[in-house]
Amino acid sequence: MNANELRKKFIDFFVSKGHARIEGKSLIPENDPTVLFTTAGMHPLVPYLLGAEHPQGKRLVNFQKCIRTGDIDAVGDFSHLTFFEMLGNWSLGDYFKEGAITMSYEFLTSPQWLGIPHERLGVTVFAGEEGIPRDEESALIWRKLGFSDDKISFRPREDNWWGPAGATGPCGPDSEMFIDMGKPPCGPDCAPGCGCGKWLEIWNDVFMQYNKDANGVYLPLARKCVDTGMGVERTVTILTGKKSVYDTEIFKPIISAIEAESNCSYGKDEGQDRSIRIIADHIRSSTFILGDPKAVTPSNVGAGYVLRRLIRRAVRHGRKLGIEKPFLTAISKVVIAEFCGPYPELEQNRAAIIEELEKEELRFLETLQKGEKEFEKLLPNLMRSPQKVMSGRLAFKLYDTYGFPIELTEELAHENGLRINKDEFEAAFAKHQETSRAGEAVFKGGLADHSEITTKYHTATHLLQKALQLVLGAHVAQRGSNITAERLRFDFSHTAPMTQEEIKKAEAIVNEQIERDLPVTVEVMSLEAAKAAGAMALFGEKYEAQVKVYTIGDFSKEVCGGPHAERTGTLGRFKIQKEQSSSSGVRRIRAVLEN
Ligand code: ALA
Repeated sequence: MNANELRKKFIDFFVSKGHARIEGKSLIPENDPTVLFTTAGMHPLVPYLLGAEHPQGKRLVNFQKCIRTGDIDAVGDFSHLTFFEMLGNWSLGDYFKEGAITMSYEFLTSPQWLGIPHERLGVTVFAGEEGIPRDEESALIWRKLGFSDDKISFRPREDNWWGPAGATGPCGPDSEMFIDMGKPPCGPDCAPGCGCGKWLEIWNDVFMQYNKDANGVYLPLARKCVDTGMGVERTVTILTGKKSVYDTEIFKPIISAIEAESNCSYGKDEGQDRSIRIIADHIRSSTFILGDPKAVTPSNVGAGYVLRRLIRRAVRHGRKLGIEKPFLTAISKVVIAEFCGPYPELEQNRAAIIEELEKEELRFLETLQKGEKEFEKLLPNLMRSPQKVMSGRLAFKLYDTYGFPIELTEELAHENGLRINKDEFEAAFAKHQETSRAGEAVFKGGLADHSEITTKYHTATHLLQKALQLVLGAHVAQRGSNITAERLRFDFSHTAPMTQEEIKKAEAIVNEQIERDLPVTVEVMSLEAAKAAGAMALFGEKYEAQVKVYTIGDFSKEVCGGPHAERTGTLGRFKIQKEQSSSSGVRRIRAVLEN
C-alpha cells in the first residue's frame, strides 16, 4: 500500500457510495483570520458545514493538503510533520452517525478495500459532559458491528471532540478508529485511545452538531453534518508496518536526496537522522507553500514568517550535516517530482518555487557569513576577558543588526569556550520588543521560542526525576533544580556516583517518554488529595492548601507551579552531559535538550 493507492482506494470507495469527488483547496485559507494555513480537510468546507448548499451535493470526498505548525518544534522525531495530506468524506445534512460509521468500517475491513482484520481494530467515542450527552448512539452502532465493550473506549473532550483550529466554527463529538499494534497493554486501563503506542489512530469521524460562536456559545447546527479525516502518511506507515513515516516510500526519495547532498546515510547516527528528518519535512512543506496557487513568499509576518522559519531551520540543519553550499532546490526538485501527480500545481509553479527557495537560502547564508565575520572580529577581545563571557548586549547586536540567530551565536561561543550572558540577552530582546510594536509579529516568534525553551526544560526535569527513581530506586528525591534556556541542573539524593549504564538508562527512559508525545495536564487540588493521588511533592517545602498537580501521561505526577510544555513530543532529544557530586549524599545532573 502506497500513498497513491490509498488515495485512489479512498476516493473510489466513497464515489461508489454516492459521493462527489471535489478538488482539494489552497493551503492558504480564504477569508479566514483564525488560522494561517489550511489545517484539515474540513477547513475549506466550513461554509457548507454551517448550512450553505454545496454545488456538488450532500455527499463529498477528497484529499486535501494541510499544514499544522503547532508541532513545528516537535518535527525531527519519528512522527511529527508540518505538512500532511488528509483524506476525507463529508455528509452535508445527509447520513449521520450510522452511515458514517458503517461506511468507515466497510472501508477499513472489506478485503476489497483496506482489508484490516476486525480483531485489530478498536474505537473511541465521546464520554459526554455537562450539557452534552455521552455518545451511546455511536457506541451502539460499533457494538452492532461486532465490537465488544473492551474495544470501545469512552473518552472526554480532550480526546473525542473536534473543532477547527480557530476558536470558532462547526464542531462536535467524534469517534476515532485505532489499530492494535500487537504490543502488550501498558496497564489495566489500557484501551483504544491510550497513548502508550499499543493503539495507533488512523481515522476520525466527526459528528458536526454545533457551531461555536465568538462568545464561546455552542449553537446547534440547522442540519447535522459528518466530517472525517484520515491522514495519508500515518495510515501508509501503519499499514506497511513501518516504524516511522520517514521509513515509507513517501519520504524515501527525499531522504535519498538529502543523503546525496550531505554524504551522510540515514539510519547511522541519531543526531544526523534527526537533522535529515527536519530537512525532509521542512522542504516538503516549503515546496508546497511556494507551489500553492495562492503562494506566500518568505517574510517577517504571518504565513510568510512560518515559511521563512521552515527554510532557515532546514538550512541550519543542512550545516549540521556538513553541507556548506546551497542545497535546498535539489531537495525541492525531488519533492516536486514525487508529488506533482496528485498536485499538478507543483509542476506548474516549479520556476517560482525554485527561485524563491534559492533567494531565501542565499539571503540566509549571507546572514550567517556576516554574523560569523562579526563574531570573529569580536573574538580576540572576548578571549581576553577573564570570565570568558560574551555580554547579552553583544549577542543581541548580532541578532538585531545582522539577523544572526542566537542559537548560532551560542554555538560559536561554545566552540571557543565562551559563555553568553543569556539573561542580559533576553532583557535586551524584551526591551526591543516593547519599543518596536510594529515589528511585533517578527519578534513574537523569537521571544515565544525563548521562554518556551525553559518551559520545556521544566517538563524534562519532571521526566528526569521519575526516570531516576525507576533506575536508582524510590529514595531519589529532588534536592535542587535550576533551569536556564541552555540546560537543566538537577540535584537529588543518592549516595554513589551513577554508572555509565545507569546514566544511559535514565536518558533512554526520558527520551522514550518524549517519543511517546505524552500530554501534560494540570489540576488544582488540596495537598492531601495530591498526595493521595500519588503526586510527588518536595519534602519540607511549604505548600498552599490548594496546589497544582502536573501529570505527564501515565508516567509522572508532581506538585508544581508550572508552567510546562503541553506535550512531551515538543521537547527534543534529552541528553545528560554530566553527573557529579554536589554535596554529601547529593548528586548533580546537568542535561540539555537538543533541537
Ligand atoms: N477534521 C477532523 C480531523 O482533522 C476529521 O481530525
